Amino acid sequence: MYKLSLTIFIVSTFTASVLAQPTYGPCGDFTRTRDPAGGLETAATMSITCTPTRGVASGSCEFDAPEATGLNAVCTYNYFTAPASWVCCYDLSKATYTFATPAPGVTWSTVGPGSTVVPQFLKPECPNGALSSVSSMNNQPRTCNITASANRKCPADYTCVKARNVVDVSGTASLADDLGAGFAPYICCKTTTLNNYGAVFTESGLSPGIVPLTPTAGILSVKLATTTVQLGDDASYIAGQLGQMPPTITLYSKTGPAATSFYHVMMFDATYQKEVWFSINNPGSGTPALEVSAGTPADFAQVVNTGTLRAPVYSIANEDIAPTAYTTVARRMVILVWKTATKLVPTAAKVKSTTQLNLSPGLYGDFEPSTAAATKGVYNNVTTLLSSTNKITKLLGRPIAGTYFMAKL
Ligand SMILES: *[C@@H]1O[C@H](CO)[C@@H](O)[C@H](O)[C@H]1NC(C)=O
Ligand SMILES: *[C@@H]1O[C@H](CO)[C@@H](O)[C@H](O)[C@H]1NC(C)=O
Repeated sequence: MYKLSLTIFIVSTFTASVLAQPTYGPCGDFTRTRDPAGGLETAATMSITCTPTRGVASGSCEFDAPEATGLNAVCTYNYFTAPASWVCCYDLSKATYTFATPAPGVTWSTVGPGSTVVPQFLKPECPNGALSSVSSMNNQPRTCNITASANRKCPADYTCVKARNVVDVSGTASLADDLGAGFAPYICCKTTTLNNYGAVFTESGLSPGIVPLTPTAGILSVKLATTTVQLGDDASYIAGQLGQMPPTITLYSKTGPAATSFYHVMMFDATYQKEVWFSINNPGSGTPALEVSAGTPADFAQVVNTGTLRAPVYSIANEDIAPTAYTTVARRMVILVWKTATKLVPTAAKVKSTTQLNLSPGLYGDFEPSTAAATKGVYNNVTTLLSSTNKITKLLGRPIAGTYFMAKL
């Protein structure tokens, strides 16, 4: 009987005229699915059984579903389909269920042929990258009722607001027929972060300790090797995500024109604070998507552990190298973006400068670990790299955008 009602819900999300009521399906939330790619549940969706692990939301899903690309896996008790068991559950993929014509107020007739219409059941997002309250039980934020009193059922310090990803496709004032997060259109967001994105970095302990100047704005999404993450997402059980510099970073606002806007992107490990990736002089495109290059040695530097976890050897590389040491612990990866109106000109190798960055290996290199006397660079760790007395923060100032997510390898 349960299976039957689930099938009806799936079919009706695709017949746009009748908007579905969600069922709370095997994963216990309408925003989640057993499909390891984050697709909507269908009658054919299989369970992947897992073993819950204390302190690790995804339990054994990393080993039980190694091909998964869906985000925020949680090993969840499924009492919905008999026999009850623990199953891997993922967020419905926001990257899959996007709307071809995202302008608000568009109506059904403007949905282009072949476009995938988003369902109503996506996880709601706070506006402008503000923090939501994510529960470790299911990796879902708390939603709220805007018309209810008593803080609209949000915890203290949180405010009930309309989610960012509610898409009005029918042109009516009601949110009930909206797509995206239309089914749960209101979300509890941390009040301090709603009008001040920098508070996301202080609330999460990154600023001022590691990142002295908080970023001005959030980052909508970061495309990794095979998945796309947003603020706070957990991709730590998806293999290969740190094998390369993220190729595309989508900002909340448009990047500037290519001739006069250059973006400098740093990704670093805020957990061990040693490994860092830095790509400079990526031109704007006039769209929110910033393409990040790691293919030009003169404009790229990376510090990577070329030893082991127990006997680390930190080395500079001017090419994108996959890290291989930190493969057992999920790390919080931070992305910071700076912008300048002209290209940065790094110094030549072994040149000491207070006004230019030195991305080269060897003496005085800003990313050359300060170990060997013969090649004594200045890199120690991420905290000292970004400290307010260091060149990067002095020369580039406040990052224009920043975000973080969890990843492992
Ligand atoms: C929201 O709260 C109002 C006022 O308490 C109530 O009438 C309404 O049914 C609630 N809506 C939902 C969806 O719970
Ligand atoms: C970073 O390096 C500085 C200078 O050596 C040191 O004082 C600090 O403890 C280091 N921080 C971390 C997290 O390793």
